[in-house]
Amino acid sequence: MDDKNCQDCCPYHAQLDELRRTNGSLTELNSQLQRAQDQLVQSEKLASIGQLAAGVAHEINNPVGYVFSNFGTLEKYLAELFRMLAAYEEAEPLLAGTPAAGRLAALREEIELDYLKEDVPQLMNESREGISRVRKIVQDLKDFSHVDARREWEWADLHRGIDSTLNIVNNEIKYKADVVKDYGQLPQVQCLSSELNQVFMNLLVNAAHAMPGGEKGRGTIHVRTGTEGGEVWVEIEDNGCGIAKENLGRIFDPFFTTKAVGQGTGLGLSLSYGIVQKHHGRMEVDSETGRGTRFRVTVPVSQPAEAAA
Ligand SMILES: Nc1ncnc2c1ncn2[C@@H]1O[C@H](COP(=O)(O)OP(=O)(O)OP(=O)(O)O)[C@@H](O)[C@H]1O
Ligand SMILES: [Mg+2]
Repeated sequence: MDDKNCQDCCPYHAQLDELRRTNGSLTELNSQLQRAQDQLVQSEKLASIGQLAAGVAHEINNPVGYVFSNFGTLEKYLAELFRMLAAYEEAEPLLAGTPAAGRLAALREEIELDYLKEDVPQLMNESREGISRVRKIVQDLKDFSHVDARREWEWADLHRGIDSTLNIVNNEIKYKADVVKDYGQLPQVQCLSSELNQVFMNLLVNAAHAMPGGEKGRGTIHVRTGTEGGEVWVEIEDNGCGIAKENLGRIFDPFFTTKAVGQGTGLGLSLSYGIVQKHHGRMEVDSETGRGTRFRVTVPVSQPAEAAA
């Protein structure tokens, strides 16, 4: 039966069509809502991870602080003990031939005094380096999460944010690529620094994932910064696999991923895009398959008054 005939015989045809259309748009609306909710969940998850990291960092900060300060005192005491020991050793010949001299020689051998004298300063140096690294990681975690800033607009040094983010994702990058920094002179930028750090983190991790890795050799990630007429830009460029032309228009879409199931949610770039937009900035990409990819994030130095309020 053709449409006209159907319309003739069925008085509800038009209403049925209308119902189908409404149903279609409701289904579409529903899936949009579902996507928005998933994005919210993901960004809340990131925020909670930040909070957790900041909490842990805060707790570690105290004990590390006193270990560090006691360490300084311990080094001073040890230096004094070594001075005292040297004085005893100088006086030792005076005891020659006495039973005490024999006991001292036996003890010296038993505890391997010469070895101890060499090893103690080395142990102290290594421990100092270790504890300094823990302190740096804790500081980076605090800088990275910036939860103490309660997600408020603040004036921040973007280089510091990029550096702490680089340290946090070091483990993802170090086996696959070398990072080359080419920083310009940047003014302080009014921003939500923990959120901008998430943008840098995603771009850096994506760049590392684009490298072949393993046998096929290491890649290079260039991190460049600069200013241009009231704006600052940060570029992250890799010489990895590049993005296929047909995908370039979709990479900022939520859930677009070319990674295997369980390896990527496809939310990194869409969340990053949202964060940069919130900063009244823009994100540009330039990529060629087989050559590499360059992302450029540009944000204004200061925010419009009502945005930062
Ligand atoms: N530097 C890059 N080199 C090559 N492809 C990239 C690069 N950055 C992004 N892509 C492509 O864009 C897609 C989307 O990136 P996005 O960061 O949004 O998600 P993802 O990395 O797949 O997952 P995740 O949610 O874990 O970040 C990636 O799957 C990849 O195909
Ligand atoms: Mg990603």
